[in-house]
Amino acid sequence: MNAADYLSFADTWESRATIRTRPRRVLENDDKLIYPLSRQPLVLSETFLRECPGQRDFALVQTLYKFINDVVIFETEIVDKTARSIAKNRFDLAFPFACRYDAMTVVIDEDYHALVAMDFMQQTVAMTGIAPIELPDEIELSRAIPAAIALAPMHLRSAVELICVAIAENTVTGDVAAFAKDDTVKQSIKGLMADHLLDEGRHSGFWTRMVRIYWHTASEADRQCIAQILPVFIGHYLTNDIQKSFDLRLIEALPISDAARLALRSEASGLAYPINRHHPLVANIVRFLRSSSLLDSSCVQSALSDYLI
Ligand SMILES: [Fe+2]
Ligand SMILES: [Fe+2]
Repeated sequence: MNAADYLSFADTWESRATIRTRPRRVLENDDKLIYPLSRQPLVLSETFLRECPGQRDFALVQTLYKFINDVVIFETEIVDKTARSIAKNRFDLAFPFACRYDAMTVVIDEDYHALVAMDFMQQTVAMTGIAPIELPDEIELSRAIPAAIALAPMHLRSAVELICVAIAENTVTGDVAAFAKDDTVKQSIKGLMADHLLDEGRHSGFWTRMVRIYWHTASEADRQCIAQILPVFIGHYLTNDIQKSFDLRLIEALPISDAARLALRSEASGLAYPINRHHPLVANIVRFLRSSSLLDSSCVQSALSDYLI
């Protein structure tokens, strides 16, 4: 795909973007869950069910706060930054105006997603009276992207940043999709996820096309260099450190006995996914590598062979 062939999605954005089409969602005070059980496996553990089943909703509310906090960091510090520099033509890679305009719609969508997430934070605090425990000030990508960029020679830094953000924008989409289908969860929360998903479908296509345009112009030497950086990025991206320290702080905050706390801590340390092809986000990453044409290059195939089936 050439840059000259880029077709803007501006018309679709006007008619479908959630900031253009959705009323405010209000959290309902019903018996449904505020967060899917499947996304906080600690509350499904044998130890939790034995020691403190009554703390389930507290743990789910705190996990929702962590999710919201992650969304705000991802949208405002990661995607906004890269999309904004493309829109303002400050990116090392030059893109036609149609790409820059679409990048600006991504900035608007992401900042709006952060606002909606913050709204749910305040609505949840007001309804439950539960204040958030200490929340992380970074997400995995806050470390993974700088680590990848640091490995790139100067002339490839923007390209690496673009590919990292494109991978992230393509994996989060599948992640939120699972969330939106769970019928045990409150309608407003599912609606929030469905709204977000609608915008992210457009974004994932945008980032994929940007990467296709770039990859098409990259020299074989540059492709090989980037291929070597990808596994480092993915390794950092899929780590569990931040989630694990959050789970430990959550366990600290539970009103339970020391023995129960100890048992829950060891339960939590067994929850991490392996960093290989069995990690649940890897299928999304591989799908992106195919659709962006990166996997057509043999250097990418061999650098990422651990993740390919
Ligand atoms: Fe978003
Ligand atoms: Fe996005």
